[in-house]
Amino acid sequence: MKWSLLPGVAAVAAMLPAAAGMTLNVADKASVGAMVGGVAKQLMTYYPPNNYGAVPQNGRSDKTGVQWYESGIFFGAMMEYSRVANDGQHLPTVVYALYNASYGPVMSFLGSNEAIAATLLGRWNDDILWWGLAPLTGAEIFGKDTIMMDKGTYSKLAVNTYLSSWSQWDATTCGGGVYWSRDRTASGNRGTYKSTITNVQQLLMSGRLAVLTGNSTYTSIGAQLYTWLKTIGIVTPTWHVYDGGNAPTCLPLNTNELSYNIGVLIGGLAWMFKATGDASYDADAASLLTVALELFAPNGVIADACEATASCKANEVSQKGTMIRGLMYLHMHTANATVKSTIEKVIDASATSMASLACDSSWNCGNTWAGTNAAVSIDFHSQLNSLELANAVASIHGASGIPGATALTNPFDGTSGSSGSGTGSGSGSSSGSGSSSSSKNAAAGTAPGSLWMFAAAGATVAAVSVGSMLLV
Ligand SMILES: *[C@@H]1O[C@H](CO)[C@@H](O)[C@H](O)[C@H]1NC(C)=O
Ligand SMILES: *[C@@H]1O[C@H](CO)[C@@H](O)[C@H](O)[C@H]1NC(C)=O
Ligand SMILES: *[C@@H]1O[C@H](CO)[C@@H](O)[C@H](O)[C@H]1NC(C)=O
Repeated sequence: MKWSLLPGVAAVAAMLPAAAGMTLNVADKASVGAMVGGVAKQLMTYYPPNNYGAVPQNGRSDKTGVQWYESGIFFGAMMEYSRVANDGQHLPTVVYALYNASYGPVMSFLGSNEAIAATLLGRWNDDILWWGLAPLTGAEIFGKDTIMMDKGTYSKLAVNTYLSSWSQWDATTCGGGVYWSRDRTASGNRGTYKSTITNVQQLLMSGRLAVLTGNSTYTSIGAQLYTWLKTIGIVTPTWHVYDGGNAPTCLPLNTNELSYNIGVLIGGLAWMFKATGDASYDADAASLLTVALELFAPNGVIADACEATASCKANEVSQKGTMIRGLMYLHMHTANATVKSTIEKVIDASATSMASLACDSSWNCGNTWAGTNAAVSIDFHSQLNSLELANAVASIHGASGIPGATALTNPFDGTSGSSGSGTGSGSGSSSGSGSSSSSKNAAAGTAPGSLWMFAAAGATVAAVSVGSMLLV
């Protein structure tokens, strides 16, 4: 969490948006490339590289504030961009940011003092898991034994993150479930809440790590998580997905339904299907997809409920983006052609509408993609969701001709990466938290501790303690 003495990036928000009116032709890879490359490039303008790896925070919870966890989502989306757009141009910055944020050789987003991370820095399990997804994509692109930077591998950073949160699975309450906060003494109900998002992120990482490594520990944990979600009633018999519950019983559940809970779960089941071949995961994902689209794309374009009244809070904006990433994964892995074309249809309609109603000629895109509230907006949160959508289009249809594109190679050692571009079955392709009762955004903390400074040259690392400083 959540705030910082560092200067923010608010100045960018003062720029006036230009008129919308871009055209996307999903059947034309160059058109897809122009969009996805443009959106990614604009998103990167919000990131001035720094010691902390994250986008600087300004302590605000409005549109100009970027919380630490959102930087994790951002770098995860940028790693996906590299894969689906087959473009390595942003990787040196993105990978260096992951390195800085995971304290260099420590290789943990919690640093070397987990107690400080959990309490003073407010690093929650869902926060670190968002970050952990980014090096996991790096391992998928470059291989599980490929060095990320300096010494450690991408997969080691992903596994370290995964095991940190998994260590907070507690079978003595609620029959299981991973806690949301890492701090059992956190105020209000924060210390007792078992949030759905944390558990579905853990499930997503389980499926992906299982595919990456072939290690059955991960499929067992994934199955255990999914069984718990159904047994406690978070996943209902009619495929709705609730937000979580408080230990010791988790009952009654918080019945809020948020797009990222169902969307990340769908993505997790897609990878579990890929890892195990168990068709029930694919079938359940298909059932969840039907409900997800009823709730979050009722008019055929993906939208969170708050958009209709233009009342989305900053921390609600990234939600549909991570849902879209889940739909992209299901499109990649499902064996069901109907499911594939359903996803393709909603992604294509959303992106075509976004381009024409919400993107300016520099590919700054707003976050509402249809209806009277659709407009260009120049802000980090909107741009992040726009990238998640553009990534899905590139994954389904393929992308080409991206300005400035470079080969997909590992910045550290030049290892060639494996792209996912155009591997789907798209017709145009030639190949193919904010829960009401448990908001954590009210809480914030300051941290004493050491500032890790990394000498830029040659990735040589020196840790320098500079006394009291915020690590955000
Ligand atoms: C499988 O993964 C678990 C969890 O990371 C690890 O403890 C175990 O050593 C791995 N097994 C093998 C055979 O690599
Ligand atoms: C594919 O998914 C659709 C939609 O959920 C479902 O009706 C259909 O039975 C599934 N097909 C197969 C072969 O499982
Ligand atoms: C990582 O930290 C170093 C300073 O220690 C800084 O020079 C560099 O720009 C940072 N990189 C990123 C991508 O944030």
